[in-house]
Amino acid sequence: MDAAAVRALRADLEAARFTVDRLTAFWGTAADAALERGNRVPAVRAVAGSTDPAAVLARVFVLGLDDDPAAVAGALPALGLAGAAELGLVDTAGSRIRPLVDLRPYAFLDARGAGEWWIASDLGELATGAALRTDHVLGVGGASVTLSGLLLPGPVDTALDLGTGCGIQALHLAREARRVVATDISSRALDLARLNAALNAVTSIEFRLGSLFDPVSGERFDRIASNPPFVITPRGVGVPEYEYRDGGAVGDDLVAGIVRATAQHLVPGGIAQLLGNWEYRATEDGLQRALGWADEGGLEAWIIERETLDPARYAETWIRDGGTRPASPEYEPLVGAWLDDFAARAVTAVGFGYLLLRRPAGDRMLRRVERIDAPLDTGASGLGVHLSAALAAHDLIAPVDDAALLALHPSVAGDVTEERSHWPGAEHPTVITLRQGGGFRREVRVGTALAAVVGACDGELSLGAILGAVASILDVDAAALTAEILPEVRELVLGGMLILTSGG
Ligand SMILES: C[S@@+](CC[C@H](N)C(=O)[O-])C[C@H]1O[C@@H](n2cnc3c(N)ncnc32)[C@H](O)[C@@H]1O
Repeated sequence: MDAAAVRALRADLEAARFTVDRLTAFWGTAADAALERGNRVPAVRAVAGSTDPAAVLARVFVLGLDDDPAAVAGALPALGLAGAAELGLVDTAGSRIRPLVDLRPYAFLDARGAGEWWIASDLGELATGAALRTDHVLGVGGASVTLSGLLLPGPVDTALDLGTGCGIQALHLAREARRVVATDISSRALDLARLNAALNAVTSIEFRLGSLFDPVSGERFDRIASNPPFVITPRGVGVPEYEYRDGGAVGDDLVAGIVRATAQHLVPGGIAQLLGNWEYRATEDGLQRALGWADEGGLEAWIIERETLDPARYAETWIRDGGTRPASPEYEPLVGAWLDDFAARAVTAVGFGYLLLRRPAGDRMLRRVERIDAPLDTGASGLGVHLSAALAAHDLIAPVDDAALLALHPSVAGDVTEERSHWPGAEHPTVITLRQGGGFRREVRVGTALAAVVGACDGELSLGAILGAVASILDVDAAALTAEILPEVRELVLGGMLILTSGG
């Protein structure tokens, strides 16, 4: 790659003020939302005819339209059309300039705060008007943003991004790690990821070609991040095998294999964060199945399931993702192939979620699964910070026995509210719910006693003193109440809804 050309491109993008806010200023938030739904018409109309360099760049590289050579040359004065062609950004052969990549600003919030990069990837279905190529290199999508938002804060020494694609997780890891290795099976993906690192002046990423952990054989990292090609795909029946989403395995074997192999590539105490799918089978719970992979790999695990899809919905989602529409003749045979594949393993549903895996540094303590379907808080500090605090709370509380727990002083987290629902005219509530305003926005149904305990957690009183007082107010046996409430208190601490300190 020509480093001077990449510097010239960077200078042009900066000079054009080619930023997320600028694009939204051109076409508004409704057009942004339409673009996300696959409708570019409102955005195209908003920038039609504009000679503003950022509008020209948006027409060509975001909306995928061809444009007038003079306009594009004017928007890239330092790089020039020849330089853009040399970098593989445009085709200059015809009378109009045709984009060859998608190149857009990407604004983010991760554990280190807010930032903005430019990211190049393959042109999407919207620009090409055709189903995706099987070697398509994905841009920054919903799953990418989910994983990057969850990444734990550093600083750490080394990190690995497995299946880097356009390099987005590697770029985020480079904010937390001194050195990052990014791997992919696709050399086209690595070329784009290298371009993105250079374009954003990130120099600490090493790119390596190869399958899964092959390129890092014998190496261990402090952190691993992977948005792996986890999509479950029928084999041997002509279903397109997309590199970006499908690792060639049967069922959920690809994610299972990555989880089992992860411990060999983590230092003790090192953490891997993955996205994944897991199958629910007639006699097997999907989350327990995923937890079993971590057990086989000797890893601590915290697995959060965000959604489950039945086989038909799963097939529809991924057939449409590849660009095949319900009206096309391929659609129904493809749905049939997916349903046959699921039926062969008695799959009843597919779960999607996040896996946090840790190589135990001592006793293996963390072994937890959760189902959370509330919308996530993507505000102020990012989910990675919340997850990191939850992990710290786990490590604090796991070795603490019940007697020691009673001596600690809990306080309610600032974002927790309580909601009580009454039957009309009833004196006592029928339902009490604690709601978390930030983080995973957990909702926890609690009984009267736990609500009273939480209500008294002001950091001044010990948990033992609070339980004693609540038992006496409710006129119940203190020992029985303590035995009932302590596991629930532990859950609230792990969820970040109660915070423990050692003294009042
Ligand atoms: C879902 S994309 C994720 C891209 C990017 N990391 C992100 O978060 O947006 C999965 C990536 O894994 C790569 N991949 C597929 N099979 C692979 C394999 N066997 N080994 C390594 N990477 C693979 C694909 O080329 C693709 O870039």
